[in-house]
Amino acid sequence: MQSTYFDVYRDWQAAPEDFWRRQAEKLHWFKPVEKVFDKDQGVYGRWFTGGETNTCYNCIDRHVKAGRGEQDALIYDSAMNGTKRIFTYSQVLDEVQAIAAVLRNCGVGKGDRVIIYMPMVPEAVFSMLACARLGAIHSVVFGGFAAHELAARIDDCGAKVVVSASCGLEPGRVVAYKPLLDHAIDLAKVKPDACLILQRDELHTPLRYEHGDMDFSRAVEAEKNKGTVVPCQPVAATDPLYILYTSGTTGQPKGVVRDNGGHMVALNWTMDNLFGVKPGEVFWAASDIGWVVGHSYIVYGPLLAGNTTVLFEGKPVGTPDAGTYWRIVSEYDVKVLFTAPTAFRAIRRDDPEAAMAAEYDLSGMRALFLAGERADTETLKWAEQVLKVPVIDHWWQTETGWPMVGNPVGLGLLPFKPGSPTRPMPGYTIHVLDDEGHPVVSNTLGNIVVKLPLPPGCLVSFWNADDRFRQTCLEEFPGYYKTADAGLLDDDDYLFVMARTDDIINCAGHRLSTGAMEEVCATHPDVAECAVVGVADSLKGQIPCGFLVLKNNVTREEKLIEREVIDLIRNEIGPVAAFRTVMVVKRLPKTRSGKILRGTMQKIADGLPWKMPATIDDPAILEEIIEILKAHGYAKASDAGTAA
Ligand code: COA
Ligand code: AMP
Repeated sequence: MQSTYFDVYRDWQAAPEDFWRRQAEKLHWFKPVEKVFDKDQGVYGRWFTGGETNTCYNCIDRHVKAGRGEQDALIYDSAMNGTKRIFTYSQVLDEVQAIAAVLRNCGVGKGDRVIIYMPMVPEAVFSMLACARLGAIHSVVFGGFAAHELAARIDDCGAKVVVSASCGLEPGRVVAYKPLLDHAIDLAKVKPDACLILQRDELHTPLRYEHGDMDFSRAVEAEKNKGTVVPCQPVAATDPLYILYTSGTTGQPKGVVRDNGGHMVALNWTMDNLFGVKPGEVFWAASDIGWVVGHSYIVYGPLLAGNTTVLFEGKPVGTPDAGTYWRIVSEYDVKVLFTAPTAFRAIRRDDPEAAMAAEYDLSGMRALFLAGERADTETLKWAEQVLKVPVIDHWWQTETGWPMVGNPVGLGLLPFKPGSPTRPMPGYTIHVLDDEGHPVVSNTLGNIVVKLPLPPGCLVSFWNADDRFRQTCLEEFPGYYKTADAGLLDDDDYLFVMARTDDIINCAGHRLSTGAMEEVCATHPDVAECAVVGVADSLKGQIPCGFLVLKNNVTREEKLIEREVIDLIRNEIGPVAAFRTVMVVKRLPKTRSGKILRGTMQKIADGLPWKMPATIDDPAILEEIIEILKAHGYAKASDAGTAA
């Protein structure tokens, strides 16, 4: 009889190490694991110590050796330029090997860092795998980030080589990457030895050969012609596979480090058990390789499990229309789709009756998974009606690398509760604690934490910053990992995720730090102080909203300054910050100890009930803020002093 969720969760609870040992046995190891978990290594212990493996081998070579080389591995579909290409596992192996050879010629070896700053093209995925093959550590930077952010990442990881492209394609514009990359390298203290540039047809960029630029395709083609063989470099299970920078509580991004062993074991478990996809079936994560969803579920998870993955370049709407997702699902027989709720809000907004869905055969699809932000019930219900398959909310974050809480299709679905991503996956014990670290009774809001040790696949630390990892994630609640999400567990241990406890906002499924935006606003010469909060948005979930206090002597027009601040954020952080709403205010509301009342401002802007904080310095300031927000179309339902 097939195991149910409760069997498997109990199994894991009873003997966690046996559970993970059994999962590890499903993958290839060059040297067997000595200890499944060694509590004395790393910040909170390390998984699969003594073992040696290679993630690229397990994703590609293993399947080819098992006789499945002719199976489709990667489907590339660009709604931006109409390109469609399908690569079998054998073809992916050839591509990856040639790129690995080029990287090796550039001096890249085990432990070296390679930045990948690329749009959604197959070469980006192959480059990630090529790094893994060499035992090098990749760090993919999302294309919507500007030069300054890229420079910060080049410096922090000490990149030896950058792999990039001439351009990305956004609706209505070609985004020239090369000037951004050149500017980033000028800004960075670390100068990479080489930059491999993929020339796309939409834009050919001049190469600075004297600075180490190389034509990606020409170099790769040469290695293919030579038939260069690059074996997979055995690495320790505990060696890093990648660094993925994510927004933290300051402008300095946190380099989440993922290891090789734990990562492959955990992801491989999820494909069948959580997502319910079998080898040979098509799985599509409609995300971007610059985010964790792209790492785990466009690249590594599906390939480890021998699925066919889809790499889609385009948007849910406007490329060309709200039927694009349905075209992909029917054309490639997608069994399981994973995306962010914001994508479905966009489709629903453009095609509320789902007339376009009716034009395609979606009968092959078995489930839709949503994550990255809170799944609102309206969107969830709409998706269910349109697709007639289970729509499954699941909760996780860049740091964990795979879902903490979900509803496992492969183990038989649990009953749904609206607003809840359901129950913890094996590996995770979730608690809710009050601010003093005491467990709260069920149905009470508090800090969501995970009992240590974190399971395989979660971050092992921040790059070169163990202390920052301890301070940010482990110290506040000893014995637990702090998720920085707030929520509650009900009587059936179903989790409800309500809000962040830090400055992170989720805008169109993109994770952004309002603190980082404040740091940039503050650099404008006319700005004395500022606050940025996330306000509700019907499409993107949340969008940043800036409040600026100008210096006393400023006489320039306020509108001009607001425009300059918007441009500043776009140029410093990138267009992905979606920073378009900013207002000049006379003063910012603060507590008597000088803390800006961001939470209260956010509630007012969203028209939610709010309470005059007892510690407020000057209540009149909130009245001023309400007036300005109302003038900008916010705070519709807010009246000063409404009781919470
Ligand atoms: N390279 C360059 N620029 C990018 C970019 C990239 N990879 N991704 C986004 N941008 C730009 C956009 O073009 C836009 O620029 P603009 O200000 O000139 O219009 C800006 O960043 C903001 O982008 P976004 O917030 O994504 O808004 P949008 O209106 O372009 O699209 C959605 C809205 C909802 C359609 C889109 O965000 C979406 O598909 N989201 C899915 C979320 C997702 O994949 N999340 C990953 C986790 S599952
Ligand atoms: P990221 O690191 O970009 O994946 O963002 C992680 C954060 O997004 C989480 O800490 C949550 O705040 C939010 N998030 C992700 N998935 C969900 C979900 N299913 N429900 C509510 N919030 C979510």
